[in-house]
Amino acid sequence: MPDLLLPDMLAPPLHGTIFSKHIHHYYKIGSTNTAAMEAGNGGAPEGSVFLAEQQTAGRGRGAHQWHSTRSSGIYCSVLLRPAVPPSDALILSLIAGLAVYSAVQEIDSRVMLDLKWPNDVLIEGKKVCGILTEMNAEVTRVRYVVVGIGINVNQSSFPADLQTIATSLRLVTGTEWSRVELCTALLKSLDREYRGLMENPGSAASILHRFQERSSSVRGRQVEVEENAGFEGVTEGLDSRGFLQVRTAQGLRTVLSGTVRLR
Ligand code: BTN
Repeated sequence: MPDLLLPDMLAPPLHGTIFSKHIHHYYKIGSTNTAAMEAGNGGAPEGSVFLAEQQTAGRGRGAHQWHSTRSSGIYCSVLLRPAVPPSDALILSLIAGLAVYSAVQEIDSRVMLDLKWPNDVLIEGKKVCGILTEMNAEVTRVRYVVVGIGINVNQSSFPADLQTIATSLRLVTGTEWSRVELCTALLKSLDREYRGLMENPGSAASILHRFQERSSSVRGRQVEVEENAGFEGVTEGLDSRGFLQVRTAQGLRTVLSGTVRLR
């Protein structure tokens, strides 16, 4: 059975989640996030899923690219239409990290993952997953959000420039993973987190708590923040909307957008 992320394989186990009905699969595409944003603009329903075996223009945060070789990773974007203001959207990105964390743990509880705010999942300090959350919004109302998740699953090597910073589940466990099984677990977990949050906005506190528990760097780590002129300090947890707080010589600062480097 080839391990392809085909709708016929994913839809039955996803029955009952918001992700079961509109799964789009591409053998080759520029970027699943771009496809999902275009679909969002065209009125596609909440829960639409865009999966690719290969991306030719996979996008990361900022101007970065996402290395997306054929059938070795999971390249997945989901379209959400949450009834929230844009200022509350960061937490949607954080739940994606939690969902990746749970999905990997469900399949192999020996894998030690570490969430790095806001969007990375690390193993032994190397990146195994990146999340790119994009949105289309009015000032007071989100029209739609696309959460794009890239997981390095069965890569046996990386290009020279990524070798020291990236890893895959196969490289750390020594075994081949079923992408279908992992992708199913991921979407089920994301469905649980998202519906929990939408049905009970009070669950944001538990999400932030769980994120902090699963992150070694969100508290007590010396960091450099590349924001405006740049600043450095020691991380001091997340605020109520999920923004990172950093204690600097000038006082407590909130990281709004920048890249955070661990020192
Ligand atoms: C990052 O770490 O900078 C975020 C990487 C996000 C990569 C995923 S792969 C699926 C989706 N489509 C894209 O073009 N990007 C995201």
